[in-house]
Amino acid sequence: MEVVIGPAPELGRLAADAIALLLRAQPDAVLGLATGSSPLVVYDELARRHDEEGLSFARARAFMLDEYVGLEEDHPERYRNVIDKDIATRVDLAPGAVQGPDGLAKDLVVACRAYEEAIAAVGGVDLQILGIGTDGHIAFNEPGSSLASRTRIKTLTRQTREDNARFFDGDVDKVPTHCLTQGLATIMSARHIVLLATGRGKAEAVHQLVEGPVSAMWPATILQHHPHVTVLVDDAAASRLQLADYYRETYLAKPAWQGL
Ligand code: GLP
Repeated sequence: MEVVIGPAPELGRLAADAIALLLRAQPDAVLGLATGSSPLVVYDELARRHDEEGLSFARARAFMLDEYVGLEEDHPERYRNVIDKDIATRVDLAPGAVQGPDGLAKDLVVACRAYEEAIAAVGGVDLQILGIGTDGHIAFNEPGSSLASRTRIKTLTRQTREDNARFFDGDVDKVPTHCLTQGLATIMSARHIVLLATGRGKAEAVHQLVEGPVSAMWPATILQHHPHVTVLVDDAAASRLQLADYYRETYLAKPAWQGL
């Protein structure tokens, strides 16, 4: 696991570099897209490179991590609409290139299975962008999630609903109680995982993710078992890392040609 500590815009540029490099080598790459505020610096940078430098997503495919259950088609906080607004419509992703779990499906169990099959059918995700919840969840895999889980329905914790209430007029009761989410094993199947976290509120989750024991209580800790994870954090999110100085020295000494 590589930890890079820096200011948010720099983290966005690093993640965008990795995506741009991937798309140049493999224009039909499969990207994993996350919602939330953390990936916005990456999406802003990708949109800028698309506008100003011709970075093209025309042949790329993308899969979302998760979706609320039951939010109507045109609800602005439906993750499908959030992803369209934050990234898909800002670049040249082809119509239909982005897929997400169907939180409005009549049969949610069938929808989850179909989603796993759709990811497998394109050969899996090449690069997954991730955020992390204050309780250590990734996608919507809340504490207690099976470390071997696949896409399924989950109940959101009170903490997550309170964290996300800011997107629902500050009213926790408007935040759905259920979601469909890629499982931890689904996420672990991605070939490169780039996780972003900023702000002091994420410091404990980042400490557990990087330095804590692997445990379903902090679901992100499963990433310690992945061979290629990049953790991009600002000073505040890094403030509880025991080996922060070591991570800084290691990154400073890293040859530029290595990339992420
Ligand atoms: C939600 C999303 C996660 C995201 C988390 C943190 O719960 N399902 O994918 O990582 O929020 O969001 P933010 O980056 O806004 O703090």
